[in-house]
Amino acid sequence: MKLLVCGGAGFIGSAFVRVRLDGGDEVVVLDKLTYAGRRENLQDLDVEFVHGAIEDPDAVAKAIAGCDAVVNFAAETHVDRSIAEPDAFVKTHALGTYVLLEAIRAAGVRYVQVSTDEVYGSIEEGSFTEASPLAPSSPYSATKAGADLLVAGYVHTYGMEACICRGSNNYGPRQYPEKLIPLMILNALHGDPLPVYGDGMNVRNWIYVDDFARGIGTVLERGVPGEAYNVGGPDEAPNIEVVKKILELTGADDSLIEYVTDRPGHDRRYSLASEKVRGLGWEAQVRFAEGIGRTVDWYRDNAWWWEPIRSGDYRAYYERHYGRALG
Ligand code: NAD
Ligand code: TYD
Repeated sequence: MKLLVCGGAGFIGSAFVRVRLDGGDEVVVLDKLTYAGRRENLQDLDVEFVHGAIEDPDAVAKAIAGCDAVVNFAAETHVDRSIAEPDAFVKTHALGTYVLLEAIRAAGVRYVQVSTDEVYGSIEEGSFTEASPLAPSSPYSATKAGADLLVAGYVHTYGMEACICRGSNNYGPRQYPEKLIPLMILNALHGDPLPVYGDGMNVRNWIYVDDFARGIGTVLERGVPGEAYNVGGPDEAPNIEVVKKILELTGADDSLIEYVTDRPGHDRRYSLASEKVRGLGWEAQVRFAEGIGRTVDWYRDNAWWWEPIRSGDYRAYYERHYGRALG
């Protein structure tokens, strides 16, 4: 297959590109290269790169030419940034998905929209299935849910071959350090305080990035058009347990933990039931205990990757958001 991967220079998109190249596909990446998108993530990979936004019809037309299928990872992905500045979230998720869908309809190719468990909102007990109502609670999840509904509307109206793939919280190499796990690893390695929101008891369902990438591949190859598929990780944990595990693996001291003001509208727990995608033959392979060790090792061994981020714009973001400078 020749695949167009939108947002392929980001964390999950670049892992997906690796999986598909290993499987023998040809890959074109279309990416706007926001603060989170990096050419370094595709270093040494044989891909055609188109620099452009999914909301730009010319860039999309150039990138989609000759492709057999499209997978869309392109997104603004940080909940905290969506609370502070929602503008880009609306543009990329609503307008961008619409422009992509129009190009896909014209090209008549298969499509997978990469989405998130956050579109279902928070669940105290049990797990969300694909039949659960969408009840997003942040500008990030609301605009991602809007994109899902747009895809569903296009499938229903035009009979397009599109699926939606909803993942739980990903972790692994190349995740931008604004997110919980890489933020805590890098702060621990530098002796900076570890800012835990609220009481630290919010629960996330963790999936190793390569497992999610393979799950999206399964949906691309075997998903029934018009269907949504949950792809959740094998383990869940309260944030404070994740942070303590990172302290243990980095050899840093528990005294670095600092409870800070909670995120507004902070979802308490996410949990996905993934039986439907298992029915297509997918299974998670990496348990959290193993994946977190691999992830800490990767950040420890790849300072070349995060040093330019930690000494660049991320410093200003961190100071703005946490009200203190990184050490
Ligand atoms: P990321 O922030 O690391 O990467 C996003 C990529 O999209 C970047 O390369 C960025 O440059 C690109 N991009 C942003 N806006 C664009 C635009 N308008 N046009 C073209 N490219 C654009 O994000 P990620 O964590 O890799 O997430 C990828 C996808 O997976 C997103 O759709 C996200 O909602 C979804 N998802 C993420 C998680 C998670 O835990 N990270 C979980 C479930 C689903
Ligand atoms: P995050 O990585 O932002 O993912 P999401 O909000 O999309 O689930 O956050 C994961 C969890 O960690 C979430 O409950 C918020 C919490 N968190 C902190 O406690 N401190 C932090 O500095 C960050 C970034 C997140």
